[in-house]
Amino acid sequence: MRRKDSVNTMQIQISPSVLASDFSVLGQEAARVRAAGAPMLHLDVMDGVFVPNISFGAPVIAAIRGCSDAQFDVHFMITDPIRYIGDFRKAGADSITFHVEAAQDPAAVIAAIRDAGCRAAVSLKPGTPADAVFPYLQDVDMVLVMTVEPGFGGQKFMPDMLPKIRAIRRECMRLGLQTDIQVDGGIDPRTVSDAAAYGANVFVAGSAVFRSDDAAGTIAALQEAAEAAFGAAL
Ligand code: DX5
Ligand code: ZN
Repeated sequence: MRRKDSVNTMQIQISPSVLASDFSVLGQEAARVRAAGAPMLHLDVMDGVFVPNISFGAPVIAAIRGCSDAQFDVHFMITDPIRYIGDFRKAGADSITFHVEAAQDPAAVIAAIRDAGCRAAVSLKPGTPADAVFPYLQDVDMVLVMTVEPGFGGQKFMPDMLPKIRAIRRECMRLGLQTDIQVDGGIDPRTVSDAAAYGANVFVAGSAVFRSDDAAGTIAALQEAAEAAFGAAL
């Protein structure tokens, strides 16, 4: 089936996740993928409670803010997200994504992210159904569909998340919204096509980009594959 007119103009963007970078030279790694053509930088914040892993917090993000002019795409995998929005905005976040499962009042978190001056996004874990985010689609800039269990890089893409991506894209289309749909986990030049076909337009890639010998070539390959496939399965 042809891509639908209403989503024809969606911008495809690649967001490399620093989780797969060399943390001993994090600033240089951020600069390297920016120079390689990535417009966004994905920053995974984990608290060891919402997910079974701890990564880094606002001071680390502030330390590398001057190394890249990419859009800092902060992915909260933390409980009580509303409490930390101000700290991460000050550290340089342009966009903050929180998990719908972690928020008592998701609408309040979205409002607080916007009040802080960031783009707001809501995410769902693999076990959470698409309709958990339907009440918030009018208010967010982006929905992040996890395509692995959050917590670790280098996992295998879960193809059974594809219908969920499509369900959210179709609901956005029904509402006349051009909301970004981001996917995160196991994205590489092959899986990116499937995710794009089902309606994702923003792609987190950790291992695929940072572990590549040719980051620019990999980013371009991801971009081209996503552009070619976008909307084909809608
Ligand atoms: C996982 C993180 C991802 C991770 C993706 O919880 O949210 O952003 O870095 O890593 P890859 O692309 O290696 O699957
Ligand atoms: Zn992430």
